[in-house]
Amino acid sequence: MAMTVLVTGIAELTTNDAELGRLADAAVLLDGDRIGWVGPASRAPAADQRVDVAGRAALPGWVDSHTHLVFAGDRTAEFAARMAGQPYTAGGIAVTVQATRAADDAELERGLRRHVAEALAQGTTCLETKTGYGLTVHDELRSARLAARHVDEVTFLGAHLVPPGWDTGAYVDLVCGEMLDAVAPHVRWADVFCEAGAFDAEASRAVLTAAARRGLGLRVHGNQLGPGPGVRLAVELGAASVDHCTHLTGADVDALAGSDTVATLLPACDLSTRQPLPDARALLDAGATVALASNCNPGSSYTSSMAFCVATAVLQMRMSVEEAVWAATRGGARALRRESGDGAVGVLRPGARADLHVLDAPSVTHLAYRPGVPLTHAVWRAGLRCR
Ligand code: NIG
Repeated sequence: MAMTVLVTGIAELTTNDAELGRLADAAVLLDGDRIGWVGPASRAPAADQRVDVAGRAALPGWVDSHTHLVFAGDRTAEFAARMAGQPYTAGGIAVTVQATRAADDAELERGLRRHVAEALAQGTTCLETKTGYGLTVHDELRSARLAARHVDEVTFLGAHLVPPGWDTGAYVDLVCGEMLDAVAPHVRWADVFCEAGAFDAEASRAVLTAAARRGLGLRVHGNQLGPGPGVRLAVELGAASVDHCTHLTGADVDALAGSDTVATLLPACDLSTRQPLPDARALLDAGATVALASNCNPGSSYTSSMAFCVATAVLQMRMSVEEAVWAATRGGARALRRESGDGAVGVLRPGARADLHVLDAPSVTHLAYRPGVPLTHAVWRAGLRCR
C-alpha cells in the first residue's frame, strides 16, 4: 500500500477546486502520488506521516506551460545589447541553434536537468518544453527524445525559425514531412512561431494542419512582436493555447473570449525584450482564459521563476493575486489540457496528482507583496518531497 503523508498546519490553502475553494486552517493528505483528501485540519484522517507546516500557505505546484529548455550556449551579449537599446528579433534564435547543434547529447541533457531542477526547487511541478533549437531532422528528434525523459509535456517546434540558407517553402515542406514523421512519436504537441521574421499565416497554417493530421495537439506563438494573424489562426484551428498575446486587437480578444483556446501570457519575456506587457485585464474582462508561464529560454526570457511572473502580473498587469495564482497553476493545466481526471495538475482535490507547494508565508498575497523574495518552503511532486 502507498505511504500516506498528512500535510497539516496550512493557514491558507488554495485548491483551485470550485467546491473546495480556499480553506483556512487546512490539511492535505498525500496518498502515494495522488491527493487522498483535502479539508479542515480538525477533520483530517490518520496518516503514516504528519508534516506540520506551522501556519504557512499552500497551493498546487506551478504549471509552467511554455518553456524552451533543450538548448546549449549563452546569449548574454544579446541581452546586454537589448538593454542598451537594440530591439529583440527572431533572428537571435539562430545563435542558440548553432550552439545546440554543436553540443553532444550529454551536454544538452545536463542543461535540461539543471533547468528542470531549478524550476522544481521554486515550486514548478509540471513543465512543458519545446524542441526548436535543432531545426534539422536529427537535431529536432534528439531534442524531443531528451525532453521526453525529463518533462511532463513535449512540444515539437521545428517551425521556430527558417534556418539560415533555407528557402521558406522547402523548409516548411521538411517540417510538415520528414521532420514531423520523425518527431511525432515523442511529442504530444506541435507549435509554430507565427510572426514577421519567422512564419507567416500561410506557412503556419500548413505546419499546424499537418501536425493536427498526425494527431498532435496545437499550440501557437502569436502576436509577440506586433499585431498579426497568430491568435486568430490558433482559435480557428482549435489550438489549446496561443502564447505571448502581447499585441492584441479587439478582434483578437473577442476571438479568444469566444473560444477554448487559452491566452498564455509570458510577462518575463515582455520585460526582457522591452515589449509592452499584455493587456491581461482586457482578456479577463472579456471572458478569455488566461495562463501565465515563464517562457524560460536563453534568448527572450531567461528565468524559470513562476513567482516572478505572478508578481509582475499583479503589480503591473492589473491581475488580482487570485487571478494570477490561478493562471500560473490551473490556467497552465488548462493550456496543457491536464486539469481534469485522474492525475490532474494545477488543482488540489482527491485524485489529482500530489503536487503541493508550501510558501514561507501565511498567504499567497505575499507572492506579490514580497516580490523577488524566494518564498518556496516545501515542494511535493507526485507525492515525493523534492524540497
Ligand atoms: O517564445 N518567440 C519565439 N521563441 C522564443 C524565443 C526564443 C529565442 O529567442 O531563443 C519565445 O520567446
